[in-house]
Amino acid sequence: MSKIFLGYTSMSGRNEKIAGNLKSYLEEKGAEVDLEQLVDADAFRLPEYDAVITVTYTYNDGDIPDEAQDFFEDLQDVDLAKTKFAVLGSSSKSHIHFGRAVDYFTMEMNSSNGDQVADSVKINEDPDDDDYARIHQLADYVLKSLD
Ligand SMILES: Cc1cc2nc3c(=O)[nH]c(=O)nc-3n(C[C@H](O)[C@H](O)[C@H](O)COP(=O)(O)O)c2cc1C
Repeated sequence: MSKIFLGYTSMSGRNEKIAGNLKSYLEEKGAEVDLEQLVDADAFRLPEYDAVITVTYTYNDGDIPDEAQDFFEDLQDVDLAKTKFAVLGSSSKSHIHFGRAVDYFTMEMNSSNGDQVADSVKINEDPDDDDYARIHQLADYVLKSLD
């Protein structure tokens, strides 16, 4: 059975809800999923997983959320050793640098020798049905990469 790390950070609940939805979707398809908040997660353990999915909002003029900074900095010292990964997140088009934390995580996980298996997905505020279709498509790409 494939083991997937699903790490998220969420201030007002949107990304927590997305991560919960993704967990159910992946488990229905037979994956084993460890769901953790990034503030509690150990980036050095990521290579133990078959795949890593990161779900993040964006804060303060395009920044990574404060509580995810330690995880992000540790990622720079981790060799992901071609671990499959995907990144997504809800942020808001009403701010500048829409979803830029998604871009930062995508770049860093590529730099840390991860294997990106789906285009990153940015969601504007609350996900609608089309957004959930994109979220599930990302999950399908992750699962397909593990076949
Ligand atoms: C103070 C503040 C700053 C924000 N800055 C940005 C930003 O720079 N870029 C962006 O795309 N969204 C920004 N957002 C929007 C959040 O990323 C968005 O509301 C997101 O859906 C929150 O996710 P959550 O419910 O999981 O916490 C900001 C929100 C707040 C409250």
